[in-house]
Amino acid sequence: MTISQESTYPLPIAEKPLTIAEMVVADYRKAEVFRQYGIDYCCGGKKPLEEVCLKKNIDPAAVWQALQNLDKQAENLEETWTDMPLQGLTAHIVGTHHQYVLQALPMLNELTTKVARVHGERHPELIEIARHFFNISQELQMHMQKEENILFPFIEKMAAAWQEERPLPPAMFGSVSNPIRMMESEHESAGNEMEIIRQLSDHFTPPAEACTSYRVLFAKLEEFERDLHRHVHLENNILFPRALQLEQQLHQA
Ligand SMILES: [Fe+2]
Ligand SMILES: [Fe+2]
Repeated sequence: MTISQESTYPLPIAEKPLTIAEMVVADYRKAEVFRQYGIDYCCGGKKPLEEVCLKKNIDPAAVWQALQNLDKQAENLEETWTDMPLQGLTAHIVGTHHQYVLQALPMLNELTTKVARVHGERHPELIEIARHFFNISQELQMHMQKEENILFPFIEKMAAAWQEERPLPPAMFGSVSNPIRMMESEHESAGNEMEIIRQLSDHFTPPAEACTSYRVLFAKLEEFERDLHRHVHLENNILFPRALQLEQQLHQA
């Protein structure tokens, strides 16, 4: 069963409700809703929402509504990215995904190093994972700086020129297709490193005896991968094609 926009609370009694942990595994953003309600989704997450709410005296309908709002938000945003002003899209990418990466990198670098140090002898793949994550970390920081300092401001300038019926602004890099090609190749490199980590970690599956840090590391790496996929999707599939088309339109105008 998945949570759909149409589903209402309470769920039909015949259906086996998802546990809190299952909901977070399916969509890690839901962890934040549970955190806000003080519901344990980690160690005590293998229970249905209603049971936990009853015990903690929380209104399950309110939690359910917050979870559904999250589903609606994601769907609505996806629909609007294709026609909203480009300045809004670049601001969203920086504010949501670049911010997330900047916050996640130091924590994940520390955790990969710590888990590799403690368990690397029995699980040498952890040392490899730490090395590959360090590469991603270095690459992404420089990559995002280039986007924020060079490419995105130029895309925003083009969008403003179009809106104000001004000519195509000059660019030191020639056509916008040049930095876009470079960004796409860097996305591929980060994606490849992340795929290696996925394979090394057996799709982020910790061994049965894994300690909490080990488990948290794999869950966080999977969350990082999910965010990276969404981030790159917004750039490669929506922002960049729109920027290329806009440059063309400004040339012709
Ligand atoms: Fe980016
Ligand atoms: Fe990027």
